[in-house]
Amino acid sequence: MKNSIITKKILLIIGGGIAAYKVLDLIRSLKKNNYEIKTIVTKSGKEFITPLSIVALSQNKVYENLFDPNNEGEMDHIALSRWCDLILVAPTTANLMANFARGEANDFASTVILAANKPIFLAPAMNVEMWNNPANQENYKKLIKFKYKFIGPDQGEMACGEFGVGKMSSPDEIFTTIQNFFLSKNFLNKNFKALVTAGPTREYLDPVRFLSNESSGKQGFEIAKSLNEIGFKTKLIIGPNSLDIKDQDNLEIINVSSAEEMFEACKESLPVDVAVFAAAVADFKSKNYKKNKIKKQDHENFSLDLEKNIDILQFISKQNINRPKLVVGFAAETENLIENAHKKLLSKHCDWMVVNNVADKSIGFNSDFNEVFLISKNKDIVKFDKASKSEIAKRLSNKIFHSLMQ
Ligand code: CTP
Repeated sequence: MKNSIITKKILLIIGGGIAAYKVLDLIRSLKKNNYEIKTIVTKSGKEFITPLSIVALSQNKVYENLFDPNNEGEMDHIALSRWCDLILVAPTTANLMANFARGEANDFASTVILAANKPIFLAPAMNVEMWNNPANQENYKKLIKFKYKFIGPDQGEMACGEFGVGKMSSPDEIFTTIQNFFLSKNFLNKNFKALVTAGPTREYLDPVRFLSNESSGKQGFEIAKSLNEIGFKTKLIIGPNSLDIKDQDNLEIINVSSAEEMFEACKESLPVDVAVFAAAVADFKSKNYKKNKIKKQDHENFSLDLEKNIDILQFISKQNINRPKLVVGFAAETENLIENAHKKLLSKHCDWMVVNNVADKSIGFNSDFNEVFLISKNKDIVKFDKASKSEIAKRLSNKIFHSLMQ
């Protein structure tokens, strides 16, 4: 997406990891979107990527050494860190993390970092055992305390063939994170508010049995997180889940169980500027909840008498007072994705519908990935190609931001 609001300067530090080659795609996306980029490549980074290819794509200088007579004088470590709006280290190796955590200044990259007065984003890339190593985890915690911002690492198959956390986030995800970071600056003092529903609901039949579904709540949680990162004061209303989530600055978590509770929490959260309904709300609940446990010896056959739950999305969309400026619904479909989702959008009176294909088991429920179409009332369609749920969330938040700023 071409973005005219932003013309920012990025100082990109390329560390020595196999993921370095992916950084070329990132440079391409940043250039296409008017970012100016200067690059430092570490000594080991040069083993994986040539300065020449970086120059060709960034159309700018590549810095290599601390005491390079060609560099110093023209732009030293202080001047470089003052020149940029943001520093990105990708890939960030375990060695670079250790250097930054110790505050060392033993090469050009670590000297610039030590002298920096700008936000620093790290995109780690390393083997899963290296990532989980207690020394590295201690460095990680230290760097968070020092206010470094992390992008990833992701979970997946690594170049070495092993599987786990440590994979560098995709160039797309790094790009969207940077873009959303700059968007958040435009948001200052706007006081935008967001409401996100997520996860399943539980409809109890008796004190121990319930109807529910497989939703993990992950996609909704990621949306709440990325809206919050952009600058929205966000409420996440989430059904039972096993995610590791806590309140953060301007991100309030409201835990609910039934659709009824989710509905009440949503109403209490109004007014908001945007409401995203990512929850997989149980469509039906028991008509006769039993206060005591249903005993099998009392029944030879047992049929459930169910009634429809209130449609929270539809109710909020049809509000006259307090209707959010933008209401986004989710649709899980197995066929005729666009047509069915558009029909659903119209019947529920929302503004956008995000639809995914639940027949594809590699995305959606219980997967870390998703692939969705975003459909508007007048049938504009944007496809978000298969990506991590966090990347999909960042792209959606980016769209929401642009829509509210219009
Ligand atoms: N939704 C809601 N309250 C309900 C049911 C659904 O807010 N009681 C919201 C969901 O959060 C989601 C959208 O409505 O944003 C999904 O609608 P739904 O009709 O449940 O879609 P599907 O699950 O795809 O339903 P169907 O099986 O009928 O296609």
